[in-house]
Parts: sequence; structure tokens; C-alpha cells
Amino acid sequence: MAPSFLITLAMFAASAIAAPPFQPPPPGTGTPPKGSRTCDISSTLVLPPTQTALALPSSPASFVLLGVGVQNYTCSSAGTYTSVGAVADLYDLSCLSKLPAVFNNIQDVAYGAWKLAPPNVKTLGTMGGYPHMGSHFFNTSPSGTGTSPVWDFRAVSAKGNPDAFVLAAKVAGIPAPTATNDVDWLQLKSVTGALATQIYRTDTRGGVSPTSCTAGSAPISVKYVSKYWLYGGTVKV
Ligand SMILES: *[C@@H]1O[C@H](CO)[C@@H](O)[C@H](O)[C@H]1NC(C)=O
Repeated sequence: MAPSFLITLAMFAASAIAAPPFQPPPPGTGTPPKGSRTCDISSTLVLPPTQTALALPSSPASFVLLGVGVQNYTCSSAGTYTSVGAVADLYDLSCLSKLPAVFNNIQDVAYGAWKLAPPNVKTLGTMGGYPHMGSHFFNTSPSGTGTSPVWDFRAVSAKGNPDAFVLAAKVAGIPAPTATNDVDWLQLKSVTGALATQIYRTDTRGGVSPTSCTAGSAPISVKYVSKYWLYGGTVKV
């Protein structure tokens, strides 16, 4: 067999298991001021015009992030899925917000790449140059019962700052205006932590469970992407 064929085969095998490429931020993206990881945020949160459940934020945005991860569900004895939280990587979008045409569609580009990633790929890595800020996950609620969503920069972009997280409670939600298989848009408020006082999940793609399951079947993880907008934070990165 010709060596060049074997090399081609080896390259094909390697590309088949790698995550699909995610294009780096395009020219025209903002540059953070010296000493900062983030840019001024040039975009504002837009809620569907007819909805009344979510209130607009009451302060300037502290962070705008892309979340790329999974929503988890367990199968109940009644044969329906119950949400048991999520885990996602958080990437900064503040510098991209200078380019509305790209910023407004970044969730579609990211979701396209994320859906194509094979099951063994658990993260999109550095997302082709978008700064990795931290992660989103669920922790035991302060009451000791149930779990609460957390956005946490402490292990990534704010090492050494014990307050660089927010554990939140849901205020309200609306069905995603895009599609029934996109998870709800949400408004949340801080319970503990200094990363934000208000959090919004918007521009969701994916993440909804199938409508039914076989009782006793294993938990599932459904890929999703969203924007997260954090307001009122006092953490500098
Ligand atoms: C969600 O599932 C993933 C595996 O797909 C796991 O790593 C993560 O810990 C789970 N998180 C929650 C909150 O269930």
C-alpha cells in the first residue's frame, strides 16, 4: 500500500474524531483594554416584543457569554423526562458585540459545530479563539434541598477571586421564540456570589428532551447553546 494513502487514511481517522473547527473571531472584533479580558459590550439584550413575563435588566451588562454544553434529564417512573440541570463552558462575547451581524448569529454557528462534534468530544475547547471565561453547572441549593444554577469564573478567568461566581434562582421564563426544541429563555436573580445580580438566558438552540422515555431508562444529556447576559456584577476580569 502506498505510504501516501496510509498518511491520508491516518489524517482522515484523526479528523473524524476531532471536534469540527470553529472559526476564530473575525476581523473587526474589539480588543480588550490592557489588563482586561473583556471589551465594552456594544449590544443590548433584546426580548421578544410581545412577551411580558421577563422584565428588562435594571443595570448595564457586566458580561455577555456564549454557553456551550448539555441539558441533563432523568426518566421518571411516569415515562417523562425531568430536568436535572446542565453543564456548559462559558465564552466571552463582549469583544464580538462590536460586530452585530456576527454576534447576532453566533449561537447558530456554535450550535452547528457542537451538534457535529462526536459523542466523545465533551467540549468545544477554546472555541477557536473566543476567551474561555468559566463554566455553568448546578450545585446543591443553599436551603439544602434541590439544586441551583451557578456561573463560575473562579477556575478559569478569575482565579484567586473567591467571589467570582453567582448562584441564582429563577425569576421567570418564556418559551424560546425560535423553535420548540430550543430551551426556554430565562430571567434569574442572584442568591449568592458577586458575578451578577441578574442573569438572562436568551438565543437558545437545542437542549429540549424528547417528550417521553421508557421508565427506568438511563439519564440523557441534550446538547444546547445559549447566550447568557450577566448584570450588576462587581467582579473585574
Ligand atoms: C450532566 O451530564 C454530564 C454528562 O453528559 C455530566 O458530566 C454532568 O455532571 C451532568 N450535570 C448535571 C447537573 O447533571
